[in-house]
Amino acid sequence: MRLSERHYPVLVTGARGLLGRALGPLILRAAPVRQRGSGRPAAEAVRLTDLEDLDVTDAAAVARAVRDLRPRTVFHLAAWTDVDGAESHPAEARRLNVEAAEHVARAAAEAGALVVHMSTDFIFDGAKPGPYVEEDPPGPLSVYARTKAESESRVRAAAPRHLIVRTAWLYGGGRRDFIAAVLDRARRGEPLRVVTDQVGCPTWSEDLARALAALVESGACGTFHACGQGEASRYDEAVEALAAAGLPARVEPVLTADVPRAARRPARAVLSAEKLIAAAGFRFPPWRESVRRYVAMLAAGVKTPATPGT
Ligand SMILES: NC(=O)c1ccc[n+]([C@@H]2O[C@H](COP(=O)([O-])OP(=O)(O)OC[C@H]3O[C@@H](n4cnc5c(N)ncnc54)[C@H](OP(=O)(O)O)[C@@H]3O)[C@@H](O)[C@H]2O)c1
Repeated sequence: MRLSERHYPVLVTGARGLLGRALGPLILRAAPVRQRGSGRPAAEAVRLTDLEDLDVTDAAAVARAVRDLRPRTVFHLAAWTDVDGAESHPAEARRLNVEAAEHVARAAAEAGALVVHMSTDFIFDGAKPGPYVEEDPPGPLSVYARTKAESESRVRAAAPRHLIVRTAWLYGGGRRDFIAAVLDRARRGEPLRVVTDQVGCPTWSEDLARALAALVESGACGTFHACGQGEASRYDEAVEALAAAGLPARVEPVLTADVPRAARRPARAVLSAEKLIAAAGFRFPPWRESVRRYVAMLAAGVKTPATPGT
């Protein structure tokens, strides 16, 4: 999946995060050699930023960055993603997840750009027996979840041309993710206790990056769910990753109540991605298939897979 030239220039915030490390290379690979109309080289058609380049809590800096690049698409990935840490830092989490999202959305709207804002399955309370659809009412259980739910309303109000994309249980890039942590612990011979009563949709950042490109390419606007196909408990996910890596470690199944965390999590936040399939024709692979591909990439020491045709 490529982004076509008409969506450039592209600005990305939080580009060195988990999702950014998959999306950034995809955007760079597809960048026009010369930026149409301006004669500017491709490097100027893409700006991948992170905290040290562009602090999104600084509204003036965000406005300046957008004025300078004049993007047609802004991917806003920067966020406070420490779910437990947000419980003890609610003001900081709100500043980054709510206020900054609004700055970015407003600046994008003023430039006439599409803003792609990321949200989460955690905005739901996890009590629905079936998959959540985009229109289901939010029921956030934690500070992080409340900030993300509020960010959605702010972005909708600030930017008529928006994509709000709710994803879930992201892994990828080889660090700071659940699968890499499970494999590391198993290799060190440390005990593995993983919960069976949290169910969701494991999502590979590489698949999600392609889904985002497909959504932008489709010209759709609005709110979408984008996550790995099927559902799994954290226990299922750990067992699948270990099997894929050929590690014979034993995983002890435990309940959420046995491993208390600061933030409450939804028990069963499975997202329906039917709207994404209908609008963009993009279907995520079954989650087990993506976990296996990711584990194989880790084993081969590859951080970013080759994309056919690039
Ligand atoms: N990870 C998941 O499982 C998951 C699930 C559902 C939804 N999402 C959403 O998906 C989006 C991307 O998540 P992710 O996992 O890629 O997050 P991530 O790995 O935590 O990356 C976020 C990036 O934003 C940067 N950042 C922090 N403060 C900033 C600031 N003030 N200005 C600019 N950049 C700043 C971070 O830098 P530092 O690392 O230096 O702080 C980091 O590089 C987020 O909106 C998140 O809420 C994630």
